[in-house]
Amino acid sequence: MKLVTPPLIVEEGDAFKKDVLERASYGESLMNLVSRSTDELVISLDGKWGEGKSTFIKMWRGMLTENGIHSIYIDAFSTDYVDDAFISIASVVTNYFEKNIAESESKKLEELTDKAKRVGVSLLSWGAKIGLKAATLGAIKDSDIEELKDIKGDLSSGVSNLVGSFIEEKLTSHAKDLETIQSFKELLSTMPSKLEGEGNSPLIIIIDELDRCKPTFAVEVIEKIKHIFSVKNVVFVLVMNKGQLEESIRSVYEKWTPFFGHSLRINFCSAYAALDNSHFPKYTSSGVKLSNA
Ligand SMILES: Nc1ncnc2c1ncn2[C@@H]1O[C@H](COP(=O)(O)OP(=O)(O)OP(=O)(O)O)[C@@H](O)[C@H]1O
Ligand SMILES: [Mg+2]
Repeated sequence: MKLVTPPLIVEEGDAFKKDVLERASYGESLMNLVSRSTDELVISLDGKWGEGKSTFIKMWRGMLTENGIHSIYIDAFSTDYVDDAFISIASVVTNYFEKNIAESESKKLEELTDKAKRVGVSLLSWGAKIGLKAATLGAIKDSDIEELKDIKGDLSSGVSNLVGSFIEEKLTSHAKDLETIQSFKELLSTMPSKLEGEGNSPLIIIIDELDRCKPTFAVEVIEKIKHIFSVKNVVFVLVMNKGQLEESIRSVYEKWTPFFGHSLRINFCSAYAALDNSHFPKYTSSGVKLSNA
């Protein structure tokens, strides 16, 4: 007896063929929105548990491919055993470029991989040495430096001199770290045009199952997208049950708000889309027939 529904197969050339929830036109609108974007766009695609988010995304990626738009899918839940969200995303992205970039652009790819490594090292040293408070600050930027000064104040009141002096050193070298991140961002923004094909559309990066992740990892992912990966020509679609994600983040981080209140903004996305459920009732009422007999 089969207890688990097998995953729905997306047909090549007709991605929404098996879609009983009639979401093709919604998919088309979303595709038009992302493919015309010239901004640093991060969209949250919100839907309740089991409403067909992942299936929609699977079909939508098929539609994107049919229209010559490159997309990357990341299942955040399957990578949340990795501590470093930057490395998780960067490795999937560079891997995708490796497979889909024109031969003539291989130098650019090498450059991107090298810059990603530098950013990774710079972030790692922050997080690894000063622990949770600083790690959750995400990338280093001016407003974070102010918070770091507070942390230093905290720590220097007797907790650890070693950590205190590390922060001191970091405060002086943060300009260099910023430069490293900025140069990675600039290069990343030029990469979608080097992908095989017409090269006019942005690269779409879809992150699914965010609400299933450990809240600490979900925050890390959001922070890294916001500060490092969100650039022109790259659009992020974060797929989630937004209410659930907000709840789990809040439950873990409430006590830390004095340290990174600004980072805890739930409005981390620049656009919000709710999964189209207009055909849902029709499907459920015709699909589930109750009988008194
Ligand atoms: N448009 C659709 N047409 C046919 N079947 C669908 C459709 N959308 C979802 N399903 C079926 O419904 C089930 C749940 O779908 P799916 O896993 O996509 O939901 P989800 O919102 O991603 O769930 P979760 O909240 O657990 O991540 C799957 O068995 C899938 O095959
Ligand atoms: Mg899902």
